[in-house]
Amino acid sequence: MNFIFILLLLLVLVVLNINYTYTSAKIDLKNETIISNIAEPYFIEDSISPFNVSLTSDRPNENGGLSYLKKYTDKLNIAFVKEYHKICKNVNLSDDTEIIFGSGTTMMIAALYYALQKKLNKIIKCNTNTKIFYKLHEKLTYIVKNVEWTDNNSDADLSVVVSPNNPQGIITKPSEIKQEYMLYDVVYDKTLFTGKHETINSELFNEFNNNKKIFICNSFSKLGIPGVRFGFLLTRDKEIAEYSREFVDIISVRYTTVGATVGRMLYEKYIKNFNWDYNNYNILQKRTNYFIEKAKKHNIQIFNKTLMVPFVYTDKSIDWWLKNFNVETRKGSDFNDTDDNSRFNLMISHENWDEFVRRFN
Ligand SMILES: Cc1ncc(COP(=O)(O)O)c(C=O)c1O
Repeated sequence: MNFIFILLLLLVLVVLNINYTYTSAKIDLKNETIISNIAEPYFIEDSISPFNVSLTSDRPNENGGLSYLKKYTDKLNIAFVKEYHKICKNVNLSDDTEIIFGSGTTMMIAALYYALQKKLNKIIKCNTNTKIFYKLHEKLTYIVKNVEWTDNNSDADLSVVVSPNNPQGIITKPSEIKQEYMLYDVVYDKTLFTGKHETINSELFNEFNNNKKIFICNSFSKLGIPGVRFGFLLTRDKEIAEYSREFVDIISVRYTTVGATVGRMLYEKYIKNFNWDYNNYNILQKRTNYFIEKAKKHNIQIFNKTLMVPFVYTDKSIDWWLKNFNVETRKGSDFNDTDDNSRFNLMISHENWDEFVRRFN
């Protein structure tokens, strides 16, 4: 009887083991299409996950409850954004800087459009150095009225500037802008992309302290938490701050508390730590250098002005990448008038990167 029982037990263990080996078998990437360009930082996500987020029950006055959050979360987030600027950007935000939070940079841009047309009480004309905003604007006009886009530099009220921009990596100083109002998107001005523990837009931050018509937006999506939309807008104009908050209030709850919490946690645990940033920057640098070196062999032209953004902007089409390396990159049409170009994301997961190298060598 005992013998049969042991035999059955062994059989169960063997079956379990086969099943285990089967499910944990490595996926064979060799014939798979590599999707390099969802434009998010996969290799960083790999290294920071799983995040330990514990949700606790609602104990008003202690850990939660809407009244508690209203009272304390803003305070925490403001302190966090100020410290982030001091430690990671070497920037002291002046005491009159208002910080407005929302779901990602995109929402803060819309909030600013809303606030500015309301403050000026007229239809505002905008232009930009980055084509992606024309695309974005097509959607935004459904919710933000009284905003028009113009190609004419001289008659725009607001210039929307991405610095460094995506995908070319161009830095634009406020002194190069003719428009009275400027909205800067600085999502790529981060140690991870620049290798510097200070801003590369120093003129912008100096000017921001002198000129209340400059607005700056940023977010933590480009630091490994793309699904967690947490962005902020900096302004020294009290009226703009008030209208921007009004916009965020209309669109959603005040802001995504979970996004803010994860953003703060990411900062405390990783971003604050210089080595973490530098290690990731070094990975990107190595990949960039490798790409540039091998690109010559494949007759690929690279259009980037600087390589500060995690995209390499090439003269090859998606079809070309698919045919030659079975790699799907993203179209360059947001940035250039032709679809013959594509951008290649260097932040793909390590597994995909190794396979890409095997094909590209
Ligand atoms: C220039 C630029 N700004 C903003 C965003 C989006 O940021 P968020 O996720 O914070 O809305 C992107 C994302 O690709 C971007 O390239």
